[in-house]
Amino acid sequence: MSSQTARRIVLAKRPTGTPTTDCFREETYTLPEVHDGEALLRTLYISVDPYMRGRMNAGKSYVPPFQLDEPILGGAICEVVESKAPDLKPGDLVLSQTGWQTHAVSPAANLRKLEGLPGPVTMALGILGATGLTAYFGLFDICHPTSGETVVVSGAAGAVGTVVGQLAKLVGCRVVGIAGSDKKVQYLTQTLGFDAAINYHTDDIAAALADACPSGIDIYFDNVGGPVSDAVLSQINDGARIAVCGQISLYNLDKPDVGPRVMPMILTHRALMKGFIIGDYRDRFPEGVRALATWIAEGRLKWEETIVEGFDHTVDAFLGLFRGDNLGKQLVKL
Ligand SMILES: NC(=O)c1ccc[n+]([C@@H]2O[C@H](COP(=O)([O-])OP(=O)(O)OC[C@H]3O[C@@H](n4cnc5c(N)ncnc54)[C@H](OP(=O)(O)O)[C@@H]3O)[C@@H](O)[C@H]2O)c1
Repeated sequence: MSSQTARRIVLAKRPTGTPTTDCFREETYTLPEVHDGEALLRTLYISVDPYMRGRMNAGKSYVPPFQLDEPILGGAICEVVESKAPDLKPGDLVLSQTGWQTHAVSPAANLRKLEGLPGPVTMALGILGATGLTAYFGLFDICHPTSGETVVVSGAAGAVGTVVGQLAKLVGCRVVGIAGSDKKVQYLTQTLGFDAAINYHTDDIAAALADACPSGIDIYFDNVGGPVSDAVLSQINDGARIAVCGQISLYNLDKPDVGPRVMPMILTHRALMKGFIIGDYRDRFPEGVRALATWIAEGRLKWEETIVEGFDHTVDAFLGLFRGDNLGKQLVKL
């Protein structure tokens, strides 16, 4: 960068269906002056996340839509370059929401200083950040797993799914993961210790589930929705708990999908199905971080990251989430 300019990626047009590269545009822009209470940041790692697809639509949701010709905002790890805020100094590492930009000026109030992490700083965007906490609260607060129960998780080899399955194993459950490749299936069973895993692209999902879940399904942690979830919900037990965390298979549809109607299964099995948004647990984040960090320190919880290098690869890393390119948390290193 020259002394005053930086690069950022803006939303050039709203996607119809699966986003394409022409929905985004890279720009060079002049950084604003740093005012009192603000810091100039250099981005080290960018998080790309499936929920960003929803923010590319114009409609109202639980977070406001991205604005056309404005940068794509989201989680990032940055280094403070210059500070006019009392608690920040050059060299400090912070968690920001400055998103797809090489540099940014941010109010210090929007930054969290990263100190005392038990491992690499990238943990703050994954296992000890939004995705790890999503797994923790979605599983324990909604599904209440107990030893001996059968837990199925979809999107099992992703950032949230890899953690959900391991946490369920920690409390003594039988864990079955559903993912999109043989390599991922192998990783889940051989590296993470899942009891079984299913490739939803090549296996007959219903038959494979019946095989892998001989006592039926007590808990379903849903990251993907669509036909995968239809198959899981047709095999739930009485009193099943279902955490609706994500519906990535539907995010790129232009029209609402109509699948098998599952509500009779919820009714007849007296199941509990609950959607949740991780931000609603903000007040309890310290509890979640403490628990996850303890299991990591004890060597009982692994985490996986897929890191692509170079700001130029940010858009492709995001698009890769919909192709299943990533194992664990997808990040971009600048
Ligand atoms: N409720 C919340 O607060 C919250 C917070 C974080 C994330 N989420 C949601 O949780 C889910 C997982 O998020 P993440 O950050 O951990 O992402 P991720 O699982 O690391 O990445 C997305 C994965 O989704 C799978 N996928 C893509 N298209 C699919 C399709 N059509 N059908 C089935 N699977 C598909 C791909 O894996 P395969 O190779 O297996 O297809 C891909 O690797 C997402 O739906 C996300 O929106 C919700």
